[in-house]
Amino acid sequence: MLKKLINRIKNKKISVCIIGLGYVGLPLAFRFLNAKINVIGIDSDIAKINKIKSGSSYIENKSFKKNKYYKEFQKKVSNNYTKVGDADVIILCLPTPLSKNNTPNMSLLKNCILKIKKFVKLNQTLILESTVYPGATLELFNLLNSDKKFILGKNFFLGFSPERENPGDKLFSYKSTPKVISGFSKQCLSIVYFLYKEICNKVYKANSIKVAELSKLLENTYRSVNIGLVNEFKIIAKKLNVNIWDIIDAAKTKNFGFRPFSPGPGVGGHCIPIDPIYLSWYMKNKNYNSKIIEISSTLNSSMPVWVCNQIFNYLKKNKIKTNKLLIIGLSYKKNTADTRESPSIDILRKFVNKKFHVEFYDPYVKKYDFESKYFNNKSLNLKSIKKYKKDGIIIIGTNHKNINYKNILENSKLIFDTRGVYSRNKNKKIIFV
Ligand SMILES: NC(=O)c1ccc[n+]([C@@H]2O[C@H](COP(=O)([O-])OP(=O)(O)OC[C@H]3O[C@@H](n4cnc5c(N)ncnc54)[C@H](O)[C@@H]3O)[C@@H](O)[C@H]2O)c1
Repeated sequence: MLKKLINRIKNKKISVCIIGLGYVGLPLAFRFLNAKINVIGIDSDIAKINKIKSGSSYIENKSFKKNKYYKEFQKKVSNNYTKVGDADVIILCLPTPLSKNNTPNMSLLKNCILKIKKFVKLNQTLILESTVYPGATLELFNLLNSDKKFILGKNFFLGFSPERENPGDKLFSYKSTPKVISGFSKQCLSIVYFLYKEICNKVYKANSIKVAELSKLLENTYRSVNIGLVNEFKIIAKKLNVNIWDIIDAAKTKNFGFRPFSPGPGVGGHCIPIDPIYLSWYMKNKNYNSKIIEISSTLNSSMPVWVCNQIFNYLKKNKIKTNKLLIIGLSYKKNTADTRESPSIDILRKFVNKKFHVEFYDPYVKKYDFESKYFNNKSLNLKSIKKYKKDGIIIIGTNHKNINYKNILENSKLIFDTRGVYSRNKNKKIIFV
């Protein structure tokens, strides 16, 4: 059976069903399509399905419309879970957010498993790409297999392969970045291996599913901790009246043992603010308090408040009376439209609460629905910037490319730069926060 399945993968005679067509799932679907592998797409969001069907992509920098397989794929996208039965491989790319009490919210994955349960059949392979706590992949399989009809490695196959998608980044992609893969058993791993070989240049076989799950958590915790450290250094530098960017520039000349991270207004997106908490929550259940993980998460999430306090104090100290704010960059990081957990939104909220008239400009975000009040993206022209020259402030919340920062500087009065877009400029109207 195994040999037959692997041969079918090698001969591209399989169907892959991807559930969750978001930042991870949709590009993954196109990787399989480009490898001439049949893809069935399932998403619970009708608006997204309609967008795919109408040919518009909701993921920036990814224009799929010209893809020669687009037409074929459009027909195979739906919210119909029965389609799972037509696939050989099912890949789950669903969100893994936090609940209100800051604990892992696995309900989307669990509900999905319960929905597909009656359509899943013998000899299929289930792969999870969502980021989860260690052991969660097997827990999900056990939920699927509550009637014990599947035996892993014999008549059903299970794998985990964490996604390393970096939205908005053209430099690193699945073409240059190795993909970590894992399987429940040798047989499971070989199916997962031959499948991903079809779409990746390099795959790395982790020793077990748990190793692969933890490797993703280590990667994102590493980022969270190092961003936390450099954010703390930003606070230290401010207290000592030294430019943080000058410090980083000097430190990064060391060509071993140091990797520069950029300070900012906090962290956002669906990974860095969330994934470390999946691990620390899990470890609490194992009677271990993950100290560094928790401290860096707390520090990063306190950064928007620190930024706002710096600005309010500056305005007070310098007797600047204004209630007009333009935020440049609303998404959580450069060159993406993703505003999930964005620190710019926290900053926006603080200023709205202080009765500021807030506008934003972001080349990627058309409008933002903030507590049922719509903020529209302002066009960034000379006139709109100059409005803030007379009386108003500008905050650089995200360092998107393709923004004329020179023009903004020349035509404004006071800029609070949270990202260092002016890191090498000594102009007095730039305040690094
Ligand atoms: N975005 C990233 O850069 C990134 C990178 C690496 C890993 N991840 C991980 O990948 C996973 C997915 O993240 P994402 O950013 O692609 O999320 P996303 O929100 O962009 O996409 C998830 C999709 O799943 C759909 N969905 C939700 N519940 C569903 C259900 N029950 N059935 C079918 N569809 C459903 C949503 O409508 C959405 O289109 C998360 O675990 C995340 O941590 C994300």
